[in-house]
Amino acid sequence: MHIIPIVDFGSQYTQLIAKRVRDLGYYSVVVQIDDTREYLDSPCVILSGGPSSVLDEDHPLLPQWLKKYEGKILGVCYGMQLMVKELGGRVVKGGRGEYGRVKVRVVADSPLLDGIPESFESWMSHRDVVKEIPSGFRVLAVSENNMIAAITDDERYWLVQFHPEVRHCSYGFEILENFMLKVCGIRPDWSLEDFVHRKIDEIREKLDGGKAICALSGGVDSSVASVLVHRAIGGNLINVFVDHGLLRKNEEIEVPRVFRDKLGMNLVVVDARKRFLERLKGVTDPEKKRKIIGEEFIRVFEEEARKHDVEYLVQGTIYSDVIESARSGKTTNKIKSHHNVGGLPEKMNLKLIEPIRELFKDEVRRVGEILGIPDFIVHRHPFPGPGLAVRIVGEVDEESLRILKEADRIFIDTLRELGWYDRTWQAFAVLLPVKSVGVKGDERSYGRVLVLRAVDSVEGMTADWSRLPHEILDEAARRILNSVPQIGRVVFDITSKPPGTIEWE
Ligand code: XMP
Repeated sequence: MHIIPIVDFGSQYTQLIAKRVRDLGYYSVVVQIDDTREYLDSPCVILSGGPSSVLDEDHPLLPQWLKKYEGKILGVCYGMQLMVKELGGRVVKGGRGEYGRVKVRVVADSPLLDGIPESFESWMSHRDVVKEIPSGFRVLAVSENNMIAAITDDERYWLVQFHPEVRHCSYGFEILENFMLKVCGIRPDWSLEDFVHRKIDEIREKLDGGKAICALSGGVDSSVASVLVHRAIGGNLINVFVDHGLLRKNEEIEVPRVFRDKLGMNLVVVDARKRFLERLKGVTDPEKKRKIIGEEFIRVFEEEARKHDVEYLVQGTIYSDVIESARSGKTTNKIKSHHNVGGLPEKMNLKLIEPIRELFKDEVRRVGEILGIPDFIVHRHPFPGPGLAVRIVGEVDEESLRILKEADRIFIDTLRELGWYDRTWQAFAVLLPVKSVGVKGDERSYGRVLVLRAVDSVEGMTADWSRLPHEILDEAARRILNSVPQIGRVVFDITSKPPGTIEWE
């Protein structure tokens, strides 16, 4: 299998290039410019865009290994400008630059733009422009503003100013495919089915009779990671499901049913509800709540792990986490640290297995389907590690948990029933420590305020509130007010991220 390195110059679209290349059936990896690994055997390399200017003194340079590299190079935006500068062409500061949709005209035949209409809509995001092309190059396309949009030397370098990886670039996918098939002459050789088989063999070989443990929450990532390892080592994998009482309604019943009863996995359920509630008593500060839950989770998991003679810890780290960590120079990113029981491997001297660290989220879901994990697990909304504790503003107590579980369930069931669950990225209810006056029958009522939240997002880094139809909001609010007497008022949150976060705490 070929590995296609995407050299990351910091563009917000780098991951998208890697994804598009994989969707075409080639295995891609995102490579940081200071990575020491060399990819000299790869048939081609893609250079991403980036926020820097090659005219600045300290702009990012090509990785050292690329100086020795002899294969083909596709340069995108900054990647193009950097190659032009390196090869003796000239890049200058543009006037207004080009941003967003820009029409591009193909002016010469080439395998890269083969079959692409003479004029097509591209996506641009650049201020600097290529003024003089390096010697031996020719221009393949120009923009509607008469700027150079694509050039080549017909041998090794294929450089484009626009972003073929972005959906708004109308023939972007075809251009990337042309590069792989017609310029580099390589056939697709990566599929998720193969990945599953290879991974299972690899894990079996690596563990060689050793035992592993996994904190299985029922979230997509940990579920897929765990089922892959289970396929490889069966009963030698012990899954621990910590019931901290902060889960969604009935999850402590539904999750074990799937993994233990349906998939035949080794699963220990730890009832730690009392411990968590006890420690959360009187705590209202969101960060304190998170810290307590994180610590207690690790303690419970550690106690359980010590009962078994295990060598390995399975974690559901995915590729976006790996790229994020590499970029930020940290080994784990903050949001996932609780979820991934961070700190535990060193403390307990456990070796890590991260079976899905090469996969993007949608690939993880597809692997889940291939493995036969039920749909409601594979396609469920993300859920925070600290659970409902960050959705009960103020102190967490048994009564608030009961109210929120009930209301959240009704909201989610309504979305599912009316076909909106899969159209939102994440939806949930939040309970406020505020009461509001109402009338019920002829009497004055005084009940808690419940917030409904639904967002559209890609990886949760930014989010917009979902434009749910009024009828759906109306149906959910009525059902909640009729069935949960402690709630007196239902409101809908229309805050995007930024400036808000998705969770309330
Ligand atoms: P925020 O609230 O930071 O959430 O905008 C972004 C996404 O991350 C989820 N989230 C968490 N996930 N452990 C997790 O595994 C956590 O501590 C945590 N906090 C927030 C949140 O549900 C949303 O999908």
